[in-house]
Amino acid sequence: MSESAEMLERLPAAYRSQVEEVLISRERIAEKLDELAGAIDRDYAGEELLLVGVLKGAIFVVADLHRRLGVPSSVDFMAVSSYGSATTSSGVVRILKDLDAEIEDRHVLVVEDIVDSGLTLDYLLKNLRSRRPASVEVLSLLTKPSRREVDLPIRYVGFEVPDVFVVGYGLDFAEHYRGLSDIVTLKPEAYGG
Ligand code: IMP
Repeated sequence: MSESAEMLERLPAAYRSQVEEVLISRERIAEKLDELAGAIDRDYAGEELLLVGVLKGAIFVVADLHRRLGVPSSVDFMAVSSYGSATTSSGVVRILKDLDAEIEDRHVLVVEDIVDSGLTLDYLLKNLRSRRPASVEVLSLLTKPSRREVDLPIRYVGFEVPDVFVVGYGLDFAEHYRGLSDIVTLKPEAYGG
């Protein structure tokens, strides 16, 4: 069996036929998170960190990063919805769930699954900065630089991906595929097209 066939074989049977390609394997994700956690531990040595996961896409990134960190860290979540079509963002953002904790004078690391146009994150960063934290930085597992509409300082980036729609490892299409361990692309028929 070829390597790519083996990768497909590991996916749950119910979803396998809809997947076109495994773009980033679970092993590469794990290695990258080891690397990023190491960098964060060095950068925040002697500090305490608040990880702010952006629901729902960042659930696995937050969990897998949190348990790798050596610096003391806690976790909070925000949920935002952007008004747009199924696969693009409009930049108009609504907070569906705010943080439980105050962030004034705290070191905040926003944890994202993917930064696409950047409009959602741009809104979120402005909102968080207005609460006067000691610092705000961003970690995003994925970035699509070719789609960026606003310039954003993303301190920790996992992988750059081309302008393709990806799912898995937290990323969904219509609430499906989040639970896949790998990041994959879908066949056109999976979108109902
Ligand atoms: P942005 O505001 O355009 O940067 O969009 C950010 C949000 O759009 C992400 O947090 C995802 O929820 C969603 N998104 C953007 N690209 C993808 C993708 O390729 N797959 C799944 N969701 C995506």
